[in-house]
Amino acid sequence: MKSVSSINRRLLLQRAAALASVSVASATLAACEWPTSSRPVFKSYPFTLGIASGDPVGDGFVIWTRLAPDPFDRASVAEESIPIIWEIASDADMKLVVQKGTAIARRGLGHSVHVEVRGLPSGRPYWYRFRIAGGDASPIGRAWTAPEIGSALQRLRFAFASCQHYEQGYFTPYAMMVKDAPDLILHLGDYIYESSWGEQVRRHDGAEPKTLEEYRNRHALYKTDMHLQSAHAQCPWLVTWDDHEVDNDYQGLESEDWQDAAAFVKRRAAAYQAYYEHMPVRHIAFPRENGMQLYQRSTFGDLLEVSMIDNRQYRSPAACRNPERGGGSVVTADCKELFDDARSMLGKDQERWLTGGFRRSKAKWNVIGNGEMFSRLRQKTDEGKEGWWTDDWNGFPNARERVVAAMAKSKLSNPVILTGDIHSFWINDVKENFNDPNSNTVATELVGTSITSAGVPYEQFAAMLPDNPHIKFFESRKRGYMLCEVGVQSLAAELKVVDDVRDPKTKGSTLAKFAIEAGKPGAVKA
Ligand SMILES: [Fe+2]
Repeated sequence: MKSVSSINRRLLLQRAAALASVSVASATLAACEWPTSSRPVFKSYPFTLGIASGDPVGDGFVIWTRLAPDPFDRASVAEESIPIIWEIASDADMKLVVQKGTAIARRGLGHSVHVEVRGLPSGRPYWYRFRIAGGDASPIGRAWTAPEIGSALQRLRFAFASCQHYEQGYFTPYAMMVKDAPDLILHLGDYIYESSWGEQVRRHDGAEPKTLEEYRNRHALYKTDMHLQSAHAQCPWLVTWDDHEVDNDYQGLESEDWQDAAAFVKRRAAAYQAYYEHMPVRHIAFPRENGMQLYQRSTFGDLLEVSMIDNRQYRSPAACRNPERGGGSVVTADCKELFDDARSMLGKDQERWLTGGFRRSKAKWNVIGNGEMFSRLRQKTDEGKEGWWTDDWNGFPNARERVVAAMAKSKLSNPVILTGDIHSFWINDVKENFNDPNSNTVATELVGTSITSAGVPYEQFAAMLPDNPHIKFFESRKRGYMLCEVGVQSLAAELKVVDDVRDPKTKGSTLAKFAIEAGKPGAVKA
């Protein structure tokens, strides 16, 4: 049975030999042209933040690194720009190099580099590393090229994660994830946290970041966790963000606490640039004056299409927001703004792109990498009225209906929504009519718990379950992630947890298993 992780090795070695003679360099400066006298000399090892790969396509993938001998002191790199040699090999020891080139790490981008490697045969594993000419080499990472769109693919395993507060725990769930050896890791947001709260086992580098330098240092701090680095080295990632990459509950260009609008525009741009500088994303995501395009689609053979969506950058301001606090709140149906058709979670362009993709997709499974809870979650206000939480899709009911209607109309094959944000596991039936629990189930929503961030209060949320019969499972007391194996007949989901994220030597286990049968939306306990 053919799968991404069991690709024909003999064929690969034959191709590698042929490819070695046609290596393509995106280079502007070959290593041998580098005068010895101008080689940078670092006081210490420059690849302290590790390496990463992302966004596999049929003939390549993105590779990333950032030079940071001292992760928190940019003066530790004296040069304005430094050439970094990158190498792609068809073996794990980097002996059979099939492509290499030189990328320039520039001060303006924090000495980060993003190389879009192209021109490789599809559906094969590769290994990569970076080197300074005559100097240090980075760790070696594993990546792969996607099986060609439409080609037969039997199986693909991915893990998805979200919400990794550095202060609230060690990133041990990633150590467990690396042992699972997934083909792909999806991150659904809150990769960093700007703020501090709750129980702390280690500390942030300072107060809430506002400037580019401060966001850079926050990302660098998170990247010093070796479990996170090893998960990046394990396989390619697909990423999107949520709010904490910038500011809690921010909406478009509006901050949570009504920060001065012009100042928040600058702050968001700094946070976006720092995010770009630390993620293995394509050049299409390069930060521009008015934002950064993170939403994107990846297709793997005939089996799986993944649409990563951006729920933060283009959203309308929260409905009926609290004039004193801003951000999300629980409102009632009296809030007319809540049901305004003009309000949008994704923005018009992204919504059109998403639903247009539904019409065109030929994949058996269609996964959406989504920031916040998509399903209806009925809850009570303090006055006992039916409440709507405005910071997730419950705050955009009409936009949600449009997405679900587009899924139904296009007969989208096996839609599965993967969700982060809420620091708890949920298994939900996505209903055609959110107000009618007996209406058709059109999709499945799998909500992964947080890597470390404290869970939502268990009793408070468990008490909502009787009013929400489309929710089949809920657990907020465990930290971890979800591991999914996509096959032709079914998608199997394992809820993976660690005993105690505050213990660096904690042990892991499987909390529960669910499966979705192809053609039957809604997961069932396995
Ligand atoms: Fe979070």
